[in-house]
Amino acid sequence: MSDLNDQLGTELDELRGAGLYRQLRDITGAQGPRVGIAGRELLNFSSNDYLGLANDPLLKHAATDAIARWGVGAGASRLVCGNLEPYRLLEAKLARFKNKAAAIVFGSGYAANVGTITALAGEGDVVILDKLDHASIIDGARQSGAAIRVYPHLNLRKLEEILRQSQSYRRRLIITETVFSMDGDLAPLAEIVALKEKYAAWLMLDEAHATGVFGTNRRGLAEQLGVEDQIEVTLGTLSKALGCAGGFVVGSQTLIDLLRNRARSLIYSTALPPAVCAAAAAAVEFVMSAAGAQRRDRLWENVRALGAQSPIHPVIIGAERAAVELSGKLFAAGIFVPAIRYPTVPKGKARLRVTVSAAHTADEIATVRRFLLVGAASPPRPVGVPNPNRGGDAAPTETPAKPHQSALRKHRVSLPDECYFVTACTKDKQAIFQNPQAAELVINSFRWLRDQGRIHLLGFVVMPDHVHVALALCRSATEPTQPVAMLAELMQAFKSFTSHAITKVSATDSSVWQAGYYETLLRNRRDFTQRLDYIHDNPRRKGLVAQATEYEFSTANARFQCEIDWAWLDGVAQ
Ligand SMILES: Cc1ncc(COP(=O)(O)O)c(C=O)c1O
Repeated sequence: MSDLNDQLGTELDELRGAGLYRQLRDITGAQGPRVGIAGRELLNFSSNDYLGLANDPLLKHAATDAIARWGVGAGASRLVCGNLEPYRLLEAKLARFKNKAAAIVFGSGYAANVGTITALAGEGDVVILDKLDHASIIDGARQSGAAIRVYPHLNLRKLEEILRQSQSYRRRLIITETVFSMDGDLAPLAEIVALKEKYAAWLMLDEAHATGVFGTNRRGLAEQLGVEDQIEVTLGTLSKALGCAGGFVVGSQTLIDLLRNRARSLIYSTALPPAVCAAAAAAVEFVMSAAGAQRRDRLWENVRALGAQSPIHPVIIGAERAAVELSGKLFAAGIFVPAIRYPTVPKGKARLRVTVSAAHTADEIATVRRFLLVGAASPPRPVGVPNPNRGGDAAPTETPAKPHQSALRKHRVSLPDECYFVTACTKDKQAIFQNPQAAELVINSFRWLRDQGRIHLLGFVVMPDHVHVALALCRSATEPTQPVAMLAELMQAFKSFTSHAITKVSATDSSVWQAGYYETLLRNRRDFTQRLDYIHDNPRRKGLVAQATEYEFSTANARFQCEIDWAWLDGVAQ
């Protein structure tokens, strides 16, 4: 006994040491945009209850009515005597909602993935997974006994290579999430469908985070991208936008019959409580209705206000401890955003996972956005366009070309007469970009602002001993007062992250800038270029600075021009 405690205690100490120790939080009220934790009410940006249905009176009434009629427990597995009538009604509704011949409901999304994959694939087959597929997909693939091949996230070139090399297997089953649960990005479904057709593979989609959110009829991303009819197996959950619990699969009647006979997580597990099925049926009905369409539109207003491409908005921090620390700071400020760490995401890719709901108000979104200015993730990418920096169409191993050698797209930006600059550096004059986390936070936040059309990012002023970040905020923009307010917001956000090496943030207007240190520095173009070269020749800093390749500076008209290698900068910021 003591040996067990010693061994397990050591294991737990190792987890603590690595910043990976997990604890449960008591939530003292129903799900909603605000939750009670430890006697406080916090803004909740952590739930998958995207449509705000988990505590909706419609669902609660359906559940309580079902309890009155059917009791609480189902009593046995579905194939014994647990298949109470609410199941049949729910499955009929799900098939209608998803526009498929039939549906089957499992005890959870996890069970649906494991049960379905193990039923469809086995020895002699190959299961082909996206690197970031959910744990339940990975576990199902492992348990199936099939060979497993994994392609880098969204990397179609590698997917095709695997398909080409897998011709000898009996079945080839590609499985991808449509909206990735920890990254919020979207699978290029049209391209994946084309590949699976070309190589006669089957495609299984996990629409857990897209159901109720994407598509004209809210069926999911496959509907939005017009490929629904070409998908062999579609999985969804009742536990996210539908606000309940459970998982389901829709497809042909033959597929559903097979799952009922072969899916062990369905056969050997007690049926869901009838009240859950009844509430889920009410949720499906609601999502299909005009009110459901309105609720979904409201959700997208919030998603857009956050600058995200789905209700899941990751803020990549990197180090596990740093993510936990940031989450703690937000918690102290009354905002609940969990730190997601290994093994949920790869080591060194810890993040804050911000999720928004239709139930958040515009003010609540503005509050979280203010905090996240310093860590906003990549800007939205059009549907179906893979992110080349994360292993999309472009070779994933490609390293960014040296800026001055590359023929990458360049933008010339000119600074308006009236503008502001923000500089950020450490107290001890250490380059903020020597700290990769800080660099990522800064670059991402600036990119986000740039993509919002709120700033013109001019460049990063790089010096041997520290880095200043310069950006122009145009007063001549359509909203004349916005840049000033935004600047204050940005500075506030920087200050809230002082432990990440940024201890000084200052802003000057262009006249001060002209008269000051930067003018001296920039007027001497030769000096500036040499300094940049120094940075690039220094392997420790390589890859962490942006390159401005050309400068014109004239005190007469207060214009500073430079060319920014945006694509390279984008690469750095990933
Ligand atoms: C993509 C994906 N699939 C499946 C699941 C499992 O669903 P459930 O929570 O209903 O078990 C999740 C839940 O986190 C998920 O994100």
